[in-house]
Amino acid sequence: MTENSAATSTSLRARLLRWLLLPGLMLAFGLLAKNYLTVSEMANRIQDRLLIALAVTISEHAINSRGDLLSRDIELLLEQFTRENTYYRVQGPDGAFVTGDSGLPRLPDGITLEPGVPHFYNAHYRNEDVRAVTMKYLVSNPSSNIYGWVTIDVSQTRRERDNLIYEELLGSTTDFLVLMFLGGVFAWIGVSRGLAPLRRLQQAIRRRSTDDLRPIRHAMPKEVTEVVRSLNALLARLESSITANQRFIADASHQLRTPLATVQAEAEWALRNASDQQDRQALERIVSQTRQTARLANQLLNLARVSPEGRKAVRYEKTDLLALAASVTSGMVRHAIRHDIDLGFDDQSEGMNCEIETGNEVLLQEMLGNLIDNAIVYGTPGKIVTVRVIGRGVAVGPILEVEDNGPGILEKDRDMVLERFVRLDEQNGQGCGLGLAIVKEVADAHQAVMSLEDGKDGVGLKVRIAFPR
Ligand SMILES: Nc1ncnc2c1ncn2[C@@H]1O[C@H](COP(=O)(O)OP(=O)(O)OP(=O)(O)O)[C@@H](O)[C@H]1O
Ligand SMILES: [Mg+2]
Repeated sequence: MTENSAATSTSLRARLLRWLLLPGLMLAFGLLAKNYLTVSEMANRIQDRLLIALAVTISEHAINSRGDLLSRDIELLLEQFTRENTYYRVQGPDGAFVTGDSGLPRLPDGITLEPGVPHFYNAHYRNEDVRAVTMKYLVSNPSSNIYGWVTIDVSQTRRERDNLIYEELLGSTTDFLVLMFLGGVFAWIGVSRGLAPLRRLQQAIRRRSTDDLRPIRHAMPKEVTEVVRSLNALLARLESSITANQRFIADASHQLRTPLATVQAEAEWALRNASDQQDRQALERIVSQTRQTARLANQLLNLARVSPEGRKAVRYEKTDLLALAASVTSGMVRHAIRHDIDLGFDDQSEGMNCEIETGNEVLLQEMLGNLIDNAIVYGTPGKIVTVRVIGRGVAVGPILEVEDNGPGILEKDRDMVLERFVRLDEQNGQGCGLGLAIVKEVADAHQAVMSLEDGKDGVGLKVRIAFPR
């Protein structure tokens, strides 16, 4: 998966939070709605009971006072007590108006009133919503002028009731919002903590270099263990496939070396004995090509040996860089003389320790051989090549430098030449472009820092390998 497509796919955190918060939100809304219904039902019930009590009281009063309106005092008391406007109407058994508001809303059509059973309904009166009750009330006092089933309508505004519901709703909404916010914060923290192992896994994979195919050993939660196990299995397969490839290259180049050496020896022998000009030219080409192919087989084998898979079995131990560099340099003096190069060794250890703590002699010899060979081959005849060893400092390990005063390498090409099969001068048919790649691998194997710099006075090339402390 590319970085880009990974970025566009949904994040796990967003998914988890969505699945935690959405149901939470729905639940909160559900609870709020239920709360609203409960509160308004309760308020209705209380108001309805009050309405019945009012209806009975008002009708008793109307009958006892033989049809008088409620006194203003009682009306005010009612208003103060209920904080609502109360309207009423009393009708005699024959339907004749006895007292109260004659314009009060009537019982909705189609409803027959059972004697003694109150009927509640919502209505609109004087531009306000009202809750109303209508009931039949039996007057059995023969001394009163009204006798039989009287009908009483009582309506009451719903202001206070609605206020109560509104306040209750506001209170519970605020509580729910606070709860949702806290729930969201805890969900965020929980999800972040839950995903922390994934982040650790990501960092562990990101830190890996391409050479490091060891299995991932971080402790992971159960859900991720399978992923890590599959990843480790893939790493193991990859490693064995790379190792098999390396082994194949090493075997192939090894197999090539002997027949190539034979062809080269035969061609050189034939060249020495050839008298015909054309034969000589052809044989010279064969000798030169076989020499180059033999060099390629050799360098391929060397590269396979120093590559991460090849050097797995290599043992690292204390290695004296000064002694090693001196011995490799002296071994290459004849090669230098053949190219008319003055090869020198510059011991700058100044009595300091030049040991590499974890070094491998064979790999280091390969490195030195390639660096000195380059300096000799690409240096200008008659010029100087210096191999220098600088002793360990307070904060730095020993340093190896191979410097020449030949044509050097342009700064822009210095990264490129470290790659395999890169040659800057194709006309120079001596090499195959693997030397510096081998040097880089050996430097990496020793955690050394390799840099290509200008030689003395900006002339030539200086390759510097700084070993760790
Ligand atoms: N000291 C040097 N001065 C100038 N150019 C150099 C020097 N060392 C290397 N180069 C350039 O860098 C290229 C890569 O060098 P490298 O050693 O990797 O390959 P090579 O020498 O061509 O082949 P081989 O694998 O046989 O050594 C060379 O072809 C050459 O052009
Ligand atoms: Mg080379």
